Amino acid sequence: MFVKSRKWIGMSSTIAVLAGQFLIMHVSVAAGSSVIEEGKAIAFDRKKGNCLACHMITGGNLPGNIAPPLIAMKGRYTNKEDLRKQIWDPTIANPESSMPPFGKHEVLTKAELDKVVEFIWSL
Ligand code: HEC
Repeated sequence: MFVKSRKWIGMSSTIAVLAGQFLIMHVSVAAGSSVIEEGKAIAFDRKKGNCLACHMITGGNLPGNIAPPLIAMKGRYTNKEDLRKQIWDPTIANPESSMPPFGKHEVLTKAELDKVVEFIWSL
């Protein structure tokens, strides 16, 4: 009887560990997609990124067309860091750019900009 119950304790703790691992996996997957969602909200917010004033972005209403559509970004940039640089300060690539330097001029906080980069990179 004693042996039996110890076995049961051993088994139930294994189940608990497995359940815990499943939860951790599940939560981290959800966090990844929510960062993209948050980045999208910031990019579309007229008082934040307001990227739609100039760019067409899938899912955004009434986009402007004075800038290239933001699609297939992984085909335009070989790495996320270069994309980040463009959003941080577009005048590096084009000194005459009409795009606001979102990072350099602190239009967005670093955390907000990182989320926008994750969203744009996902396009
Ligand atoms: C006032 C207009 C304007 C706004 C607002 C704007 N951009 Fe731009 N963006 C441009 C223009 C114009 C270009 C084309 C390159 C240049 O002139 O610098 C550009 C280029 C880009 C590029 C390079 C695209 C490519 O294929 O070369 C990216 C990426 C980009 N913008 C992202 C963003 C993001 C993200 C936002 C919002 C946080 C944003 N832009 C807001 C005007 C704008």
